[in-house]
Amino acid sequence: MSTKKLWGGRFQEQAAAWVDAFGASISFDQLMAEEDIEGSLAHVKMLKATGILNADDSDQIIAGLEGIQTDLEAGKLNFTVENEDIHMNIEAILTDRIGAVAGKLHTGRSRNDQVATDFHLYLKKRLPKIIDELTTIQKTLVKMASENVETIMPGYTHLQHAQPISYGHYLMAYYQMFKRDKERFTFNEQHTDISPLGAAALAGTTFPIDRQMTAKTLGFSHVYANSLDAVSDRDFALEFLSNSSIMMMHLSRFCEELSMWVSHEFQYLELSDAYTTGSSIMPQKKNPDMAELIRGKSGRVYGHLMGLLATMKSLPLAYNKDLQEDKEGVFDTVKTLLPALRVFNGMISTLTVKKDNMQHATENDFSNATELADYLAAKGVPFREAHGIVGQLVLKGIQTHQNLQDMSLEDLKKASPAIEADVYNDLKSEVAVERRHSEGGTGFDQVRHQIEVAKQELNL
Ligand code: ARG
Repeated sequence: MSTKKLWGGRFQEQAAAWVDAFGASISFDQLMAEEDIEGSLAHVKMLKATGILNADDSDQIIAGLEGIQTDLEAGKLNFTVENEDIHMNIEAILTDRIGAVAGKLHTGRSRNDQVATDFHLYLKKRLPKIIDELTTIQKTLVKMASENVETIMPGYTHLQHAQPISYGHYLMAYYQMFKRDKERFTFNEQHTDISPLGAAALAGTTFPIDRQMTAKTLGFSHVYANSLDAVSDRDFALEFLSNSSIMMMHLSRFCEELSMWVSHEFQYLELSDAYTTGSSIMPQKKNPDMAELIRGKSGRVYGHLMGLLATMKSLPLAYNKDLQEDKEGVFDTVKTLLPALRVFNGMISTLTVKKDNMQHATENDFSNATELADYLAAKGVPFREAHGIVGQLVLKGIQTHQNLQDMSLEDLKKASPAIEADVYNDLKSEVAVERRHSEGGTGFDQVRHQIEVAKQELNL
């Protein structure tokens, strides 16, 4: 294969191989080989339709590119560092196959709009896959929530028992987070769905190209309105990394709680053996490795976001080679996200819920203290005063090793004469949860409502 530089005309000296290797991106941008060929095919078909190239030349180029496409699918292409990047590798292969006419392909185009087009196409194809995986997780959460509307667990603030809640309510909180993630990725699709092709190097071209035609062929809804912006915009990639970071943060928070709740201290949940590992030394261990790894991988995704933000900062318009650094972080993020989402779904859908342990944890604490304060407030005691009365009862309970529901009515009455025998019903955690009917609260009817709405959203 020819390895003479495609841009070599004005050069008298050659770079050393190791310098070339430093500048090359073929080791990673070959991931966009499919998109690069698609982009070139759309471009040459437009060159033919507009008469910029004659039919004979165009057809040779089209046939050549289609042959390369077939060989790519069959894994038969070899790329070289000498040809620097995927764009020049494909063109060099084409030249080898069809001769000098291959050189006409690049008419009215630059690698700057070419690489931007490839990158848009790459992400445009992957975003729906990520959105699909999120939908799968949402469906799993809805199923789990439906089975656990009346499963009582401690709700926490500051990681201290706060108020009892429904486990279904907890799961539906994550449903909402993933819903927002999907909305963000869906919005991301809009900014990815714009064709840079035809911006050429930075200024457009003198050839009578048809940008709408190439955009349509490639499935883009719009074209960039400004050629400088077209070749230097990487907002769509930054949005992707930002959305991915937020999404990984959601997975990571769930994984953190999961790791705690499968621990000996909590024992609220148990992971399936299929998503855990043992220890090489401690025979009893069952470690939540997958949850930890998803939590850990959030770090690398944040890193990619920071990396690209730093690369873009201070970049003058239009193309600069710095932009070659945009791809690896995005590729790695896609490679991280898809399996993380799949493993997460498998892991949560095979969880065992230890309902008794969860409920017991809400009966062995003071998380019904708010119930008692609310009870007094409902009987006309100002809430602040009620708060103080219950605070003193809690203190007494700590000193005498009793929970509120274990105290005698006589003792409770000493604290406030407004307390009657019906208080014991209110102090039950399931009653505390069930009664929280306020919109979006943890009351069973509210959780059921959330699940109904979610089912409609998911067309279930
Ligand atoms: N490999 C380059 C990149 O990824 C392609 C664009 C090169 N353009 C240029 N003017 N050197 O950014």
